[in-house]
Amino acid sequence: MTVMLRINGEERAFYGDPMTPLVDVLRETLLLTGAKAVCREGFCGACTVLIDGVPTPSCLKPAGLSGGAEITSIEGLGIEGELTALQQALEDNDVVQCGMCFPGMVMTLTPFLAAKPDPTREEVKQALVGNICRCTGYERIIDAVLSIGNKERTP
Ligand code: FES
Ligand code: FES
Repeated sequence: MTVMLRINGEERAFYGDPMTPLVDVLRETLLLTGAKAVCREGFCGACTVLIDGVPTPSCLKPAGLSGGAEITSIEGLGIEGELTALQQALEDNDVVQCGMCFPGMVMTLTPFLAAKPDPTREEVKQALVGNICRCTGYERIIDAVLSIGNKERTP
C-alpha cells in the first residue's frame, strides 16, 4: 500500500505496511535519522516529532495514520545548516553526551519555548517529563534551556 506523508514541507511516499511505525519510515525509508527508536513504547521521548505542531512519539504512530498531517522531524527545524537558538544553547552548555535523547528533547522543547519563551525552571522540568536522558544531569539541560532567555535579556 502507498502512504503519502507530508514531512518537513514535502510530500513523501512510503510503500509498505501502513501499520509500520512512523519512526521506522522516517529512519529507514526516508533516511531522516534524527528521531531515535530507543524504547519503542512511548516512554523515552527519543523518537519525538511534531505532528500538526504537537510533540508525538513516532514509535507509537502508524505511518498509515499520519497521512494528511503536517509532520516535522528535527531535520525540518529552522534554517538548513544552522542551529536553532535552542540547539545552540544545548551545544554551548556542553550538555549533549551520547546524543540519543536530544533530537526528541529539541522537538519537545521547540513548541514549548515558542508558546512560553521565558519559562521558569519548574516549567522546563515539567515540559521534559516525557523525555529521558540517561547521560547528562537534567539540571544542566534545564540550565541550557534557561540560558536562552537570559541571553536575550542581556544587552
Ligand atoms: S522510542 Fe518512542 S518513546 Fe521511546
Ligand atoms: S545524552 Fe545520552 S541519553 Fe541523553
